[in-house]
Amino acid sequence: MIYLDHAATTSLSDAALQTFIDISKEYYGNPSSIHWAGRKANSILRKARLDIAQIFDTKPEQIIFTSGGSEADTLAIQGYALANQHKGKHLITTAIEHHAVLHTMEYLEKCFGFEVTYIEPVNQVISAQQIKEALRPDTILVSVMYANNETGLLLPIREIGEILYDHQAVFHVDAVQAIGKIPILPEELHIDFLSAAAHKFHGPKGVGFLYSRLANFDSLIHGGRQEEQHRAGTENLAGIAAMATALKEQTDQLEQHYQTVTDLKAFLLDKLAPSNYYLNESGPSLPYVVNIGFPHQLNEQLLMRLDLAGIAVSSGSACTAGVIQASHVLEAMYGQDSDRLKESIRISFSHKTTKEELDFLVQQLHQIIGGTQ
Ligand SMILES: Cc1ncc(COP(=O)(O)O)c(C=O)c1O
Repeated sequence: MIYLDHAATTSLSDAALQTFIDISKEYYGNPSSIHWAGRKANSILRKARLDIAQIFDTKPEQIIFTSGGSEADTLAIQGYALANQHKGKHLITTAIEHHAVLHTMEYLEKCFGFEVTYIEPVNQVISAQQIKEALRPDTILVSVMYANNETGLLLPIREIGEILYDHQAVFHVDAVQAIGKIPILPEELHIDFLSAAAHKFHGPKGVGFLYSRLANFDSLIHGGRQEEQHRAGTENLAGIAAMATALKEQTDQLEQHYQTVTDLKAFLLDKLAPSNYYLNESGPSLPYVVNIGFPHQLNEQLLMRLDLAGIAVSSGSACTAGVIQASHVLEAMYGQDSDRLKESIRISFSHKTTKEELDFLVQQLHQIIGGTQ
């Protein structure tokens, strides 16, 4: 069985699994309890927060643990927009964001009368200039992803941060696909909110965090006073500790892993070279994701046949009842009539991917599409 869908989720690392087991067994107290068991659990929570804060060079209290990327995105966007609507009701994002961002924006439009500008890619990329032109005096938040989950495209975060520096709008960055893969220092990049999900960097599912430079935003979950009163609910202690382990592991080996994956991508494309394919790649991209199309090959059938051969890859876009929905990302990049929407698949690596696995993938692809190796 070959797994090449790491942009969807990754396997848990051995060290993260061990942390998860150890913490679940030994630290069963509620971190909010004041007795010994609570204090013991709380020490783990504090350490995880501190470890993560150190990686991003932030203050520990600026890390808010969440249930994953979607919650972190929603907390930043909805939480900030609702608490600051007296400053203006205009928001900016891009048409290629994850649905966690897009659907939160739509909700704010529909239910709270916000106005949202969705920046469409020009020549398949989003430029900082487009953000600059969309800014208005009543813009209060700009949300742009660090790296796109379907294509790996890197967005111009540094330039956007500079543009927003002297504007009232705060900057939210969905860095779910980039964290653990490239170094990110939010303060240096003038980022106010940064979203992360542990399961994308070999941590557990159902846990993530939001870096937040600011404190003036509403909670999504009300109740206890956890997370500086920004997110009520007893913390997922084992998950949080395992996330910190995984993040530290990935960050310590960031450059080696990046090189390994860069080589894997080159290896795959080299092997595929004689056959007829195109890349949906339009600018600087993370090597971890390859969005590739094969002319006249329907992605639905391709994915099914690869699955039969034991290879897990994806279309990158949502799938409802076994039917692939056209990708909103490719649609924004190439137009709704482009064949790329029906022909493209997403192959996504981790540093654990091997060349043997890619050899097998290429062999299967050639058998299916009838090319030669
Ligand atoms: C860019 C991006 N943002 C947000 C999410 C949502 O994260 P989660 O599944 O942890 O809620 C994902 C997950 O695919 C993603 O790729």
